[in-house]
Amino acid sequence: MTDTQSLPPEYVGLDLLATMVIVVGADGECLFANTAFENIMRLSRRAVQKALLPEWFDDAQRLIDTLSGVAANQYSSSRFDAVLRRGAWAHEDGLPVHVIVSQMDAGVDGAPRVLVELIEIAQLARQDRDERNHDQVQATKELTRNLAHEIKNPLGGIRGAAQLLALELQEGSPELTEYTQVIVHEVDRLQSLVDRLLAPHRKAHVVGDVNIHEICERVRALVLIEHPRGLVIQRDYDTSLPDFRGDREQLIQMVLNIVQNAAQVLGPRIAAGDAQIVLRTRVARQVTVGKQRWRLALELHIEDNGPGVPAEIRDRIFFPLVSGREGGSGLGLTLAQTIAQQHQGMIDCESEPGLTNFRITLPLP
Ligand SMILES: Nc1ncnc2c1ncn2[C@@H]1O[C@H](COP(=O)(O)OP(=O)(O)O)[C@@H](O)[C@H]1O
Ligand SMILES: [Mg+2]
Repeated sequence: MTDTQSLPPEYVGLDLLATMVIVVGADGECLFANTAFENIMRLSRRAVQKALLPEWFDDAQRLIDTLSGVAANQYSSSRFDAVLRRGAWAHEDGLPVHVIVSQMDAGVDGAPRVLVELIEIAQLARQDRDERNHDQVQATKELTRNLAHEIKNPLGGIRGAAQLLALELQEGSPELTEYTQVIVHEVDRLQSLVDRLLAPHRKAHVVGDVNIHEICERVRALVLIEHPRGLVIQRDYDTSLPDFRGDREQLIQMVLNIVQNAAQVLGPRIAAGDAQIVLRTRVARQVTVGKQRWRLALELHIEDNGPGVPAEIRDRIFFPLVSGREGGSGLGLTLAQTIAQQHQGMIDCESEPGLTNFRITLPLP
């Protein structure tokens, strides 16, 4: 949409930013708006040129006063919160933004120019949360791995001792071997739990070209075999998404864990015959994962019309051993998150009764 060639060179870099940046005259007339602003306002560059920026604000006067203050050198920069109105949100609630107005060198014609940055407040909060989440997941992973190792080591000894004890007991009091069997059985259960805790970190990364839709189709087929009736798995694919480098088997596991969770909570709806899962793929631009920024990424949304994630575990579902169901291991989402991270991506979740959305973000080259 943008003809970058014709831009004054000093503006070109601004097009790469994810925050909205507008250069205006002292009266608020737009001299330049970057792509982020055009995208978010869903306006063309032509529609932005020469428009009056304050007109897109709920409280136009506040911006007008700030602009003239900054242009007249009363202060070098000013910040406040505001709501963007026009454009895409003309009939909606408006978009809360944080506004930063700063001085800028005058243009070639000598007229004063002012730089206006707009940061979506929701995006700020989201980014904060994602970053915190990322750190927490890292810390938990470390803890889990250490703990799992500590548990694993003595298990072999306990099992061996129980077996020796069983041999001794067989002669004197065979009825007591029932107890040693319990020990061996429980040790084996712990062993397999610990193995599963350690598995994602141990497995070698097998990298090849993968196609997200092929992965979705595999998972869809697998889950439909399990639930041949009562469950619809819709697909809404953006087929323009390119292949990317990744570990196909692991990625199938990741998607499968999430879709299986959905199928599990949909139990009653499957019985009623109106259970629905949607696999939706989309392109995302300028995304931040953890602390890294990517120009291009793919999003896979896995939505279900189930009861929603129980409120008491909503903040912790990606942590190991957190489960909301009888007999759950609480490892499915931990493993899925680990696999996403091994692909520089992440998974987050929004959930309310009737609509749960797990969003997998994976950077594209
Ligand atoms: N689509 C979903 N809808 C509602 N709750 C979910 C959904 N996906 C996961 N959960 C909740 O998150 C918990 C953790 O999932 P997971 O890590 O796979 O462990 P497990 O399936 O063994 O319990 C589940 O037990 C469930 O309570
Ligand atoms: Mg699970």
